Amino acid sequence: MKTTLINQLPKAELHMHIEGSLEPELMFALAERNGITLPYESVDALKALYDFNNLQEFLDIYYAGVSVLQTEQDFYDLAWAYLERAKADHVVHTEIFFDPQSHTDRGIAFDVVINGLHQAFSDAQQELGISFHVIACFLRHLPEQDALDLYPEIVKHRDKIIGIGLDSSELGHPPEKYQQVFSQAKKDGFKVVAHAGEEGPADYVRQAIELLKVDRIDHGNRCLDDGELTRQIAESGLALTVCPLSNLKLKVVSDLQEHPIKDMLAKGLIATLNSDDPAYFGGYVNDNFQQLAAAVGLDNDEIITLVENSFRASFLPESVKEAHISAVQ
Ligand code: HPA
Ligand code: ZN
Repeated sequence: MKTTLINQLPKAELHMHIEGSLEPELMFALAERNGITLPYESVDALKALYDFNNLQEFLDIYYAGVSVLQTEQDFYDLAWAYLERAKADHVVHTEIFFDPQSHTDRGIAFDVVINGLHQAFSDAQQELGISFHVIACFLRHLPEQDALDLYPEIVKHRDKIIGIGLDSSELGHPPEKYQQVFSQAKKDGFKVVAHAGEEGPADYVRQAIELLKVDRIDHGNRCLDDGELTRQIAESGLALTVCPLSNLKLKVVSDLQEHPIKDMLAKGLIATLNSDDPAYFGGYVNDNFQQLAAAVGLDNDEIITLVENSFRASFLPESVKEAHISAVQ
């Protein structure tokens, strides 16, 4: 019953790293196409490594995987594979992240990456009826100067990029490190988001709001450690893009039954459910809904609220959001 409801509801996905949708089978196919030898014997040998104790253990494997992405066609094929999966989950709007520095730092031109991705998303809008926005994330383990150096490329492609984000290793890399580039992007009219409070403390969430002036918080789980901050976020209507299976695989929660989603909703937070890095964390967006619903006992109203929130928290124009929300009811 809940499975049917979840599957049938049209939804938006707002937190998905396109490089994290690289399935092992496609990784091997692209390696072969590009004459690259992967340091894994087989798809199964690679999958056996998807057993992480924390964010960094995952990131090490994730950054190694992107080495197979070399040409515009590779980025197109990566995005298209995600889009077909999203279509099957009844995703009608998606706001995806990409990590430009994970490509430019190994000599792949920014244009190659964005043009391949953009072509796939434009084709999907026509052929699959999925609308999209693209968000370029800075890798926070690198110096802010690297982000400032990359920023003109993002501006050059501003017709294809709605906003900037901040991801990678959170602990030791607080949002305050990125104030210059975020304030410039904000001035230039980009949307700004940041991963905060995944492994980092509530104070990183506060910094993302006060110093980076984010339009949305990615993850945000740890804001719950600070009651006053949680109340402020709820009152301001700032949304959280929550990723249950990611939280489980990266040990942000020890068990899905311990996931704080009900608490978030009860406290008035605009929480949404997303897949983060579906190829690595064992499920796309409907799997996240289904497994979480089963683990914490989400009722139909909570499921519908989460789906409505996915549109509410999106960067779509208000009238388009309203139209999507009425289609949910
Ligand atoms: N957290 C931080 N950085 C990331 C993630 C994540 O879950 N996925 C890809 N980059
Ligand atoms: Zn993420």
